[in-house]
Amino acid sequence: MTGPVTAQACANIAFIKYWGRRDHALRLPLNGSISMNLDATRTTTTVEFDPALDTDRVAIQGEPANELAARRVSRHLDRVREMAGITTRACVVSINGFPMGTGIASSASAFAALTLAACAAAGVSLDERALSILARLGSGSACRSIPAGFVEWHAGADSESSYAETIAPPEHWDLRDLIAIVQTEHKDVGSTAGQTLIDTSPFNAARIEAAERGLPVVRRAILECDFETFGEETELEALRMHAVALTTRPSVIYWQPETVRIMQAVRAWRDEGLPAYFTIDAGANVHVLCQGADADAVEERLRAIEGVRQILSNRPGPATHLIDEHLVWPAN
Ligand code: DP6
Repeated sequence: MTGPVTAQACANIAFIKYWGRRDHALRLPLNGSISMNLDATRTTTTVEFDPALDTDRVAIQGEPANELAARRVSRHLDRVREMAGITTRACVVSINGFPMGTGIASSASAFAALTLAACAAAGVSLDERALSILARLGSGSACRSIPAGFVEWHAGADSESSYAETIAPPEHWDLRDLIAIVQTEHKDVGSTAGQTLIDTSPFNAARIEAAERGLPVVRRAILECDFETFGEETELEALRMHAVALTTRPSVIYWQPETVRIMQAVRAWRDEGLPAYFTIDAGANVHVLCQGADADAVEERLRAIEGVRQILSNRPGPATHLIDEHLVWPAN
């Protein structure tokens, strides 16, 4: 046991989505996915194993976590404890630098940071691939926040082969993700629950097939910095994912009127010669993708749209890493 250890992880935005599992317990996805870490959208988590504790203590955003969240964290700590051969309980303090429950993948950065901090605090030394696999067991998309920059999650045949790795480092391409926040409340149907419904959509099989076909297209477009090919495929994939969500039983509509307003606006800007595309996760916020040279123009236009409350401007982000400043249990 080492005293407090703190890790920082970026959220990530998927261009080819993880939306459906073939094994729920192991979080093995139905298709591979590709994403980018978001440098301005991070979670910081401090973990300390403490023999004096008889239960895990978890604080998120300055408050003791609710039971559901605390249990999910404890289950993840159990995985680390098993690897370390210990039963010691831990104190976990976590802060997201962005609004939670908005569909900007807070579980990805949360479980990536928790995985690295808990392993380091328990003295478990894992390589990047093993960390990615472990993070995946906490939340699927978290495996993609472990490596740096542009990342591909290989669907894999089993747990050992289902992990994420960097396909290009952050400095490879000045791609921007401007997240237009239109809703900061918790969404009704989280991505874990939404994904259990996919079999009830008649379009799911078609999306999986299209996503698999999209993987090499997006991978190559990233490697060649081919923005048009990248954007076309990414935008279509988001619409395919939402086509599945819209047609499950019960059906899930993640969009708000502002969501559609931004989607339409982005397309109009393209027609006017401003290259930008959108993608959307399991929420109402819209991720507007553009290249560095166009970021100011896109941001200015986004600000002018009614209902856009805030814009989070992201560049490709680093790998999950340890930092020296530790968070302390919140004073009430
Ligand atoms: C829409 O990783 O949150 O963001 O494995 O149940 O924790 P769990 O699901 P989660 O799903 C993310 C879904 C998505 C698309 C993506 O990030 O690929």
